[in-house]
Amino acid sequence: MSIEPLIVTTEVLEKPKMSTYRRHLLVCTGPRCTTNGESQDLFDSLGAKFKQAGIDQGELRVKRTRASCFATCKSGPLLCVQPDGIWYYNVTESNLDRIIQEHLVGDRPVEELIFHRGASHEDS
Ligand code: FES
Repeated sequence: MSIEPLIVTTEVLEKPKMSTYRRHLLVCTGPRCTTNGESQDLFDSLGAKFKQAGIDQGELRVKRTRASCFATCKSGPLLCVQPDGIWYYNVTESNLDRIIQEHLVGDRPVEELIFHRGASHEDS
């Protein structure tokens, strides 16, 4: 029985870069919590809305990411704000504007739109 030589890779991977951020907004764009693309439209509007609110850069910068399913597939669009651990439902355009102004800018979560609070909410 022969022993194969150990192949050691010398490839050096480039470390990804990411700008610092205050909060991370996750948007479900999966097919079950909205049926007509409302969640994708909402996600697509975030860049301009964040810029207008002054949270696209600087101390309050909010990073945004699409998710394919939170396993809570109803009454969308659904959002999650981390590290606050706050989950929102029924995020229409006007409700999104409230979440941006009251929560992401003003640090006051919009209570009537919250459907779940994660473990870290007491720290926020
Ligand atoms: S498809 Fe949106 S939570 Fe499942």
